Amino acid sequence: MITLITGATSGIGEQLAIKYAEQGDTVIACGRNKDKLAELAKHTNIQSCQFDATDLQDIKQSTIGFAEFDRVILNAGNCEYVDDARNFDSALFERVITVNLLAMGYCLEALLPKIKTGGQLVLVSSSVTYLPLPRSEAYGASKAGVSYLAKSLAIDLNDVDVTLVHPGFVKTPLTNKNDFPMPMAVSASDAANYMIKGIHNRKKEVHFPYRFTLILKALRILPLPLWLKIAKGLTR
Ligand SMILES: NC(=O)c1ccc[n+]([C@@H]2O[C@H](COP(=O)([O-])OP(=O)(O)OC[C@H]3O[C@@H](n4cnc5c(N)ncnc54)[C@H](OP(=O)(O)O)[C@@H]3O)[C@@H](O)[C@H]2O)c1
Repeated sequence: MITLITGATSGIGEQLAIKYAEQGDTVIACGRNKDKLAELAKHTNIQSCQFDATDLQDIKQSTIGFAEFDRVILNAGNCEYVDDARNFDSALFERVITVNLLAMGYCLEALLPKIKTGGQLVLVSSSVTYLPLPRSEAYGASKAGVSYLAKSLAIDLNDVDVTLVHPGFVKTPLTNKNDFPMPMAVSASDAANYMIKGIHNRKKEVHFPYRFTLILKALRILPLPLWLKIAKGLTR
């Protein structure tokens, strides 16, 4: 099996790359960080591929030598919080939407044609999309876009299975900077295990850790004004 993973130089993507390689897959580990890519390429079964996922031509050029994939896992992303919504920072908003959502479009144009018939496409979103959360105007909007994109692709793609991933909190460099409690946070290794199992079973949606994501899913039935009141309370 040939598995391409974006965002493989850190956190969840790195654990996915190592675990798939240990299972015997040929892994194409993607990212921008040259040193980290060189380190990954020392593992048996891992080849590295450097590109900026926000640059369509860079993705196309860098992947030209790869003919086809069994699985493409679009996992690269970043998070920046909106600290002062009243003075909205459109540059921050654009950065987050570009790397989390528009980059998915660039990767789809470049990589989807190379996924074999019967292959798999995995899009990594976030459980933030289940409910509006404080300071998440940019990150939440970008991931809501990813979730919709994945669900719509799942309808339109006939010969490729789509899996949408909604992680809860995962301890990675991305969340190390969080200055708030992260309930039920799991390790990147556990996150990768949840994902590998769900992807293997060709699940339409993979979400974890279940207790956390099920609580969020249950809270979705609250009327919006009630949830907004609770969420405002969280910020005090
Ligand atoms: N950690 C969590 O709690 C959590 C929860 C829900 C969803 N997620 C999602 O899970 C995914 C992985 O997150 P993580 O926590 O593992 O983050 P991470 O440790 O910060 O890793 C992010 C990865 O994305 C890559 N990346 C970022 N910008 C890129 C760009 N312009 N071009 C190419 N690659 C780029 C980085 O590689 P380079 O720096 O080498 O480019 C890195 O490998 C993200 O989509 C994130 O939103 C995470």
